[in-house]
Formats: sequence, C-alpha cells, structure tokens
Amino acid sequence: MAPAVALAMAVDAGLDTGLDTVLITGTTSGIGRALLEHYAARGWRVVSVNRRRVPELEAAFPSVHFACVDVRSKDDVATLLSNLEQAGTLPDVFILNAGINRIDNDERFDLAAFREVLDTNLHGVVNFIEPLTRLAPGAAVRHVIAISSMASYVGNPYGLGYHASKRALTSCFDVWSKMYRGTDLAFQQVMLGPVRTTMYNMAGRFPAWMAWGKNAFAVSAEATARAIARLATTRKRKLFFPWRAVPLYLGMWIAQSVLSVFLLGRRTSAGLARRTPEAGRGAGGQAPG
Ligand SMILES: NC(=O)c1ccc[n+]([C@@H]2O[C@H](COP(=O)([O-])OP(=O)(O)OC[C@H]3O[C@@H](n4cnc5c(N)ncnc54)[C@H](OP(=O)(O)O)[C@@H]3O)[C@@H](O)[C@H]2O)c1
Repeated sequence: MAPAVALAMAVDAGLDTGLDTVLITGTTSGIGRALLEHYAARGWRVVSVNRRRVPELEAAFPSVHFACVDVRSKDDVATLLSNLEQAGTLPDVFILNAGINRIDNDERFDLAAFREVLDTNLHGVVNFIEPLTRLAPGAAVRHVIAISSMASYVGNPYGLGYHASKRALTSCFDVWSKMYRGTDLAFQQVMLGPVRTTMYNMAGRFPAWMAWGKNAFAVSAEATARAIARLATTRKRKLFFPWRAVPLYLGMWIAQSVLSVFLLGRRTSAGLARRTPEAGRGAGGQAPG
C-alpha cells in the first residue's frame, strides 16, 4: 500500500490522534445514520443519541450504545453526560447533528413550529455545551462539532426558524471556537450545502427552479459523513461542504442583500406579503369577508 494511502486511512480512522469514541445525535436517518455507519465500520465506540428507540437500528449495530434522549431536554442531556463521565466513557468527539426543518412562515407566522425548530436545532445543541464546558480540563482534546448550514447566510422566508437557529448556532460556535482555542475543547462547525436526505426532500415545497438548483449541487449523506469525520481529526474551526455549493449560496446572498435593494426597494427578501383570506383562519384570527 502506498504510504500516502496508508496515511490517509490512518487519518480517516483517527489513529494519528488517538481518537476512538464518538457521540452522535440524530442517527435514525440521513447524515446521522451515515455517521453511525461510518464510525461503526471503523471499530469506534459509538454513543448514539435519539429521541426514540428504533429496534432495527439497534439490532443492526449491537456494539453501539443507544441512549434514548430528546436533545431538547437540558436535564436529560446533562444526566446523559454525567452518566458517561461517571462511567469514564465520555467520548472524544461529539457530533451534534440532530435537527429539524419546518415550514413556519407560510401565509402566517406559526410560533409553535418556529419554537420547535429553535428548541431542537439551537437548544438541542447548546444543551450539551454547558456540561461540557464544566468538565475538569483533560489531557486529550475533545471535539465538539455543530452541524450548521450554508443556509444560515441566506434568508429562507418559509423556514424562518431553521434559518434563525442555524445562524445563531454559527454565531455561538464562531465565538466558542476562538475562546477555547488551544484548550482541550475544540469547537468546530460544518457549514453544509444541500445533502440528499429526508430534510432535503422538503425542497418539494419550494419552486421547481430552486429544487433544480439544489439538486445540481447536492451530495450524498455518506460523502458528508466522511467529510465530518475528517474534520474531527483536525482542529479546523469551520468546514464548508461541499465546496461546489458555496457559489450557489454566495449567489443567493448577493441576490438577497444587494440586488433586492435595487429590485424590490424597501420590501424584504421574501418579496410580497402573501396575505390571503386563508391567513386569517385559526389561532383566533378572523378571515375577512
Ligand atoms: N440535508 C441537508 O440538505 C442539510 C443541509 C444543511 C444542514 N443540515 C443539517 O444536518 C443535520 C442532519 O440533517 P439530515 O438532513 O440528516 O436530516 P434527517 O434525515 O431528518 O435527520 C435528522 C435526525 O435528527 C433527529 N432528531 C430530530 N429531533 C430530535 C430531537 N429532539 N432529539 C433527538 N434527535 C432528534 C431525527 O430523529 P427522528 O427520526 O426521531 O425524527 C433524525 O435522526 C441537521 O442538523 C440539519 O439541519 C442538513
């Protein structure tokens, strides 16, 4: 085997850094599931954190420790980490991947959906941070990885909670990765472009041209898992993946922040408000006429 290939495999397996345990949230599908398969195939000790039991998944990965925890519960997350610490099995790598997307701003603003997204995507990550930053400093580096999105740079009028949650997550991790630089806590984040998963399929709600654009730039969950696992063997603060999606989001950012000023004047990037009689129904609202 060529030395370069052997080195690449060693890095991929985390052998050069001595990392061999990982905690992953949200492994029932998509990127989390691909991460679970990736690490299990390489013999890592894996702690999988899901809000529900999935017997087929647990049967397929008998060596994995499955914890049934809803990441929105700060008490349950703290108890999980405390139990792992007491057992001396706190992982080297934390991949805080669990997330949801909801249409929360179509016709009318849906506060319940907006809160659910923030509770999961933002609080479901930061619930892990407080206990982790209170651990006694260790000799080895602990990697804490947030799965953010290139979409955090561009407004999404329909998924306002999604956009807000990922933007806030990015702000927090930008700060933490600098504050804790050189310590035993390495805060890292992945700015993902489109990845073909269930969440990505929500693109069905968007116009055809947008779905076509996303398809042209999308990657598989498996390729994404490999990229995230490679990041965890470094102390790099931020990974943009896939690179080819960067021009897409940069283009959207320019269109929203610069061109819209000329094209739409004072209107928001979402364009025209779409208030129809339907918008007035429910939640105490009266439909006009
Ligand atoms: N796919 C993309 O294009 C894309 C782009 C940018 C960023 N991302 C980010 O990548 C991450 C993974 O997304 P994905 O595309 O793989 O989506 P996915 O297939 O829908 O997977 C989401 C995972 O999160 C879990 N989850 C949701 N709420 C949870 C909770 N309260 N507690 C514990 N687990 C919970 C889900 O479990 P259940 O099965 O129980 O629902 C599922 O396992 C998300 O943070 C997402 O925002 C994805």
